[in-house]
Amino acid sequence: MQTVSSDVHVRTEAPADVAAIRAVTEDAFREHPHSRQTEAQIVDALRSAGALSLSLVAHRGGRVVGHAAFAPISITGGATGWHSMGPLSVAPDAQGAGVGAALVWHGLRTLRQLGAAGCVVLGEPAYHGRFGFRSTPALRLEGAPPGCFLVRPFERLIPMGTVRFHPAFDLADPGDWTFP
Ligand SMILES: CC(C)(COP(=O)(O)OP(=O)(O)OC[C@H]1O[C@@H](n2cnc3c(N)ncnc32)[C@H](O)[C@@H]1OP(=O)(O)O)[C@@H](O)C(=O)NCCC(=O)NCCS
Repeated sequence: MQTVSSDVHVRTEAPADVAAIRAVTEDAFREHPHSRQTEAQIVDALRSAGALSLSLVAHRGGRVVGHAAFAPISITGGATGWHSMGPLSVAPDAQGAGVGAALVWHGLRTLRQLGAAGCVVLGEPAYHGRFGFRSTPALRLEGAPPGCFLVRPFERLIPMGTVRFHPAFDLADPGDWTFP
């Protein structure tokens, strides 16, 4: 478990967290202008499929205030060991306090420790760039808005190919800003 501040902690999800994760995901995306409000369903679908390579909760005073999902992706050409990050959710009243950053850093560090090759995200470069996510011509995601499909390799080599997210993400449209 990682301590973010004196009262915020990050840990792997437990079975008792499921309803709270759903609530925090719905709350985080409720006002998001490009959300189709499918993010909580995507997390549930990933869990049901056994496809959460990592599911992290941030909690404060016994309340879940943030969540990050990580799932395996496939890449044409056969490169393995890559994962997607998202949905990434922080409760509106807990935003701007480093909770999202703690979830991302904890997730990237854990994936690396597990031997992953890298992580991808579809999101805002201004936010995810601070964690080392960059766009690259080598890896592409069909339908992604320009510049918003971002890659964080853990090794020097980035494979070439087209990325396919887990089918649970079919609930979303890759053209949506908040796809993962
Ligand atoms: C995006 C989100 C996860 C960030 O979590 P957070 O705990 O508020 O973020 P942190 O406290 O770690 O970081 C805050 C910083 O990120 C910036 N930031 C937050 N959302 C941003 C966005 N969409 N684009 C650019 N910067 C953003 C803030 O301006 C702040 O910048 P500063 O450090 O220069 O002051 C959270 O705002 C959220 O849940 N939003 C709604 C759902 C969403 O958009 N998820 C991401 C989809 S890819």
